[in-house]
Amino acid sequence: MTAQLIDGNALSRETRADIARRVQTLKERGLTPGLAVILVGDDPASAVYVRNKVKACGETGMHSVLETWPASMTEAELLARIQALNSDPSIHGILVQLPLPGHMNAQKVIEAISPDKDVDGFHVASAGALMTGLPGFWPCTPHGCMKMLESIGYELRGKHAVVIGRSNIVGKPMAMMLLHKSATVTICHSATADLKAMTLQADVIVAAVGKRGLVTADMVKPGAVVLDVGMNRDEHGKLCGDVDFAGVREVAGWITPVPGGVGPMTITMLMANTLDAAEQSL
Ligand code: GUN
Repeated sequence: MTAQLIDGNALSRETRADIARRVQTLKERGLTPGLAVILVGDDPASAVYVRNKVKACGETGMHSVLETWPASMTEAELLARIQALNSDPSIHGILVQLPLPGHMNAQKVIEAISPDKDVDGFHVASAGALMTGLPGFWPCTPHGCMKMLESIGYELRGKHAVVIGRSNIVGKPMAMMLLHKSATVTICHSATADLKAMTLQADVIVAAVGKRGLVTADMVKPGAVVLDVGMNRDEHGKLCGDVDFAGVREVAGWITPVPGGVGPMTITMLMANTLDAAEQSL
């Protein structure tokens, strides 16, 4: 069996076209959605990510501001910038790219963002809303994964989903979203005794660890859906995920590639959250 591909580029194109139409409608009513992206320091991967986010704003007709600050910026200076953006009516979403330099308390910085503008969905108010099922912004990467499952018409109710990774950005919110759809959810992590025993039971596997070759074909139940959130480099410097794609695609029913899978959908959901924030500001 060769798995069917869930094409994140194609789904992103469709979704962004729809977002662009909604942006146009808002603009006709006199409101242009605006996103502020803050990058502190000179992490090269982060620089690529923020450039792609700003580019996506342009493509969907949104206004964006990119602020790049040196790693020597103080936490107090960053908090002051966030306060200014919180009260800037042309800005509906604020994103502080992570990781931040070591002298900053990332959670304190995130909590400074107004929950109304927390388009990353990392604020404790957003996390609490997701957990309790109240309205709020959902983190973009797991939300993109849910849209990918939706795109193939996958019914999660009663299925077993195994999430590998327990980060606040992906693993934990992913588990909540799957639970909201009535899947039975297992969260695995670095202390899980027998990962393979868990993944072999999974109808859906979400790999979100950042470890190349973590999920191999012998760990996947035939026909399972495999979503690869990993962003790693192989020995030739080529982008790859956490899943051994060549092996697993021979066992799985559906699989997301890297690149061209979850990555573009993450940015697409950021656009969707920013548009929602703008619409809610009316
Ligand atoms: N660093 C890695 N992923 C993300 C993300 O989704 N948002 C932000 N702000 N930083 C990140």
